[in-house]
Amino acid sequence: MIREAIVTTRSLSGEPHLAPMGATVVEGGYILQPFRPSRTLENLAATRIAVINFTDDVRIFAGCVVGKRVQVDVSKATHIDCPRLADALSHDEVTVESAEDDPRRPKFFCKTYHSEGHRRFEGMNRAKAAVLEAAVLVSRLGMLSDEKIDQEMAYLAIAVEKTAGPEELEAWGWMVEAIAEFRQKRAS
Ligand SMILES: Cc1cc2nc3c(=O)[nH]c(=O)nc-3n(C[C@H](O)[C@H](O)[C@H](O)COP(=O)(O)O)c2cc1C
Repeated sequence: MIREAIVTTRSLSGEPHLAPMGATVVEGGYILQPFRPSRTLENLAATRIAVINFTDDVRIFAGCVVGKRVQVDVSKATHIDCPRLADALSHDEVTVESAEDDPRRPKFFCKTYHSEGHRRFEGMNRAKAAVLEAAVLVSRLGMLSDEKIDQEMAYLAIAVEKTAGPEELEAWGWMVEAIAEFRQKRAS
């Protein structure tokens, strides 16, 4: 099972970084697989610590993918010297136990050192799921055909129209804009 999380890491000099990332659930922890090159990969290799943050604020997922750093507060994790999302529903503090190198996508085997809950989960929402899917599409614009993107966005739009709140509508708008901008740039 893969949980879509916001992974927070820091550089050796302490600069915080956040990135949406799939965390594969394994006994006692997670496997993280950041693509090469990425800041998350560099930070994981250098510090061997991370926080897996669980949030239902899809603006963070969508904002990171389009480089719109929405106002996201970070605070210090409880037991490791790593930033975490201040408003996460819950978070897991992990240490890298081992790594498997790969030219494209290395694997980091992470052990959960500490878990903490902060806020109530308010239930599933189709628009949140749709924005998450759109963010995955947007993060792969160069790899997918226009036809596939248009088909999937048209389907996802139904859930957004029916069930979104203001935050989901805002994040959905960024995804639609990002696709249009990508095509405009490609054409010029
Ligand atoms: C839901 C979701 C899941 C993602 N999962 C991964 C992942 O497992 N590995 C990865 O390298 N990028 C993943 N991405 C894309 C990264 O978040 C994005 O490329 C990011 O910029 C990572 O690079 P950075 O660490 O340099 O910021 C995902 C994006 C979304 C929206």
